[in-house]
Amino acid sequence: MLKKRSLSIMIALGVGAVLCVAALAFAAGMPEVLVLESDYKKTRSAVTFTHQKHIDDYKIACGECHHDDQGQPLNELTADDPVQKCIDCHSKPGEVRGRQAQGMSEQELLTYHANAMHANCVSCHRDYNKEKQARIAPATCNECHPRD
Ligand code: HEC
Ligand code: HEC
Ligand code: HEC
Ligand code: HEC
Repeated sequence: MLKKRSLSIMIALGVGAVLCVAALAFAAGMPEVLVLESDYKKTRSAVTFTHQKHIDDYKIACGECHHDDQGQPLNELTADDPVQKCIDCHSKPGEVRGRQAQGMSEQELLTYHANAMHANCVSCHRDYNKEKQARIAPATCNECHPRD
């Protein structure tokens, strides 16, 4: 009896601790959902990105998306850290693809903002869908850039 009770207290404490960590991560008013909409002239609709769900529900580490100026993953990141925008480094507007992209190195392509965004978001989604053998994570244009 005693054992059972202390176990449930431990579970309760454990859940409490997890909730605290989650609350801390979003303490500084970090929005749960980010609307990704760059300043340059856009050709597609803004992308609604469930930042908090990616962290809490899909269990993706900060460093899968955030890195330093050498491209090294920032896995110890917290909500209080100054987080640079992707476009601060991947600073050329828009996306180059098809014929325009021919002959460009991977590194050069990544200097374009939308190429870097797609390389991050779409490639993880594709890998995930392949692994699950189902279309779960959005990988087609209109799923992320809805037409109204
Ligand atoms: C799946 C990708 C992904 C993961 C995982 C992720 N982030 Fe982000 N985060 C982004 C993107 C994209 C932005 C928006 C960047 C931009 O505007 O250029 C962002 C923005 C932010 C911002 C700025 C919020 C604002 O108000 O603009 C903070 C702070 C942040 N992230 C912290 C974190 C922390 C801490 C973690 C891990 C606990 C994390 N992120 C995990 C992709 C991610
Ligand atoms: C402080 C500058 C900086 C910021 C901010 C930054 N990046 Fe990068 N990123 C780099 C550098 C440097 C590399 C390595 C590029 C290379 O090898 O040419 C890189 C590489 C990448 C790559 C290819 C390597 C990989 O991880 O698969 C992707 C995709 C990428 N960044 C996406 C993003 C996204 C999305 C954001 C915003 C959440 C972001 N970057 C923010 C500098 C930055
Ligand atoms: C490292 C992997 C990874 C990265 C990087 C990533 N995602 Fe996801 N994303 C997922 C997974 C996994 C799911 C589906 C989870 C599920 O439904 O089971 C998902 C689902 C989604 C969904 C649909 C469900 C929802 O929560 O709205 C959207 C929209 C989305 N991602 C947008 C983005 C955007 C935009 C980026 C880039 C800024 C991004 N993701 C980066 C793994 C990733
Ligand atoms: C997983 C989500 C995702 C998918 C799938 C996706 N995109 Fe994007 N795309 C983004 C994000 C995030 C940005 C950056 C949005 C911003 O900051 O304006 C972006 C930016 C862009 C931009 C530059 C901004 C603009 O509006 O001109 C273009 C062009 C673009 N995408 C075209 C496409 C096309 C074409 C496809 C299909 C082949 C596609 N995208 C599929 C997430 C996605």
